[in-house]
Amino acid sequence: MEYNTVESLETLRGEAFSEFGAIVSDTDAENFRLKYLGKKGVLRDLVKSLSSMPEEERKTFGAAANALRREVEERFAEAPWQNKAEAADPGFDPTLPGYPFQAGSLHPLAKIRGELVEILVDMGFSVAYGPDVESDYYNFQALNMPPLHPARDMQDTFYIGEKSVLRTHTSPVQIRVMEAQKPPIRIIAPGRVYRNEAISARSYCMFHQVEGLYVDENVSFADLKGTLLAFSRRFFDKNTKIKIRPSFFPFTEPSVEVDVECFLCKGKGCNICKHSGWLEILGAGMVHPNVFKACGIDTEKYTGFAFGMGIERIALLKYGIDDIRLLYENDVRFLRQF
Ligand code: DAH
Repeated sequence: MEYNTVESLETLRGEAFSEFGAIVSDTDAENFRLKYLGKKGVLRDLVKSLSSMPEEERKTFGAAANALRREVEERFAEAPWQNKAEAADPGFDPTLPGYPFQAGSLHPLAKIRGELVEILVDMGFSVAYGPDVESDYYNFQALNMPPLHPARDMQDTFYIGEKSVLRTHTSPVQIRVMEAQKPPIRIIAPGRVYRNEAISARSYCMFHQVEGLYVDENVSFADLKGTLLAFSRRFFDKNTKIKIRPSFFPFTEPSVEVDVECFLCKGKGCNICKHSGWLEILGAGMVHPNVFKACGIDTEKYTGFAFGMGIERIALLKYGIDDIRLLYENDVRFLRQF
């Protein structure tokens, strides 16, 4: 049909809007757009009729044609069929099974710390905390490391000011607790520690430790051994053996290092234990009298033991992780494995 009169435009309007009303999808909409509004669309073609029209009709026809095109364009821009498509498809089928949710998981360090703390709390220790920014006094001096003591060199310290440091171990919490409480004292102190070491697969500038301290009358080295054995048997395996080697720490005398039988090869020798059958897990000893004196605890009446272990070390061993940096990169492909 030729659209060259104002009346014929009314017919065109009816046709266009009835087609418009039938649009239910984006494909329908695109077809409609091409047919009516595109470069070669019906509503654009109307101007062609103008040239063959008598002068006086041009004005009214032109105005009506433009008005119709604008009306259709405006309605089209509102895209009401999109709501219609939604109404036709509720998008929700209550009979379908649910979507599986990606569950989060604990960080391997949080997991190990949780297990260590749970076991030690069951054994009668309570949990204590101290600050990450420590004074020289608590981090060194009160732990029997006076200025220029050679043991200070072992711990590559981050100094914050002349007299404050990022704590290099959790041992200062021992001092804070002994200053604040009277024996009997049975505490553990999990927390973050810092050392200015070159970052590598084996060491990082920040890591975590759990400290332990038991002070009472008649606490002996046998109590230390029994406690560490019971702890190891629960954490690793109920038949785990431990080995106690002499060592040195300024804040304990005697001092020891404790190895557990390799849980992977059961002492036969493997990659994890470097074919020794043993894994070093912690340092420990009987609290040095100078430490008690710094805290005003009667060294005639009380004795005590202390121990400290690295959480990362245990996590790397337990999960067979070969690079400590993986623990801090927060790559979910790594973290999802735990
Ligand atoms: N503070 C020591 C370190 O970071 C670990 C340690 C050893 C803690 C012996 C203790 C202990 O409480 O008795 O290397």
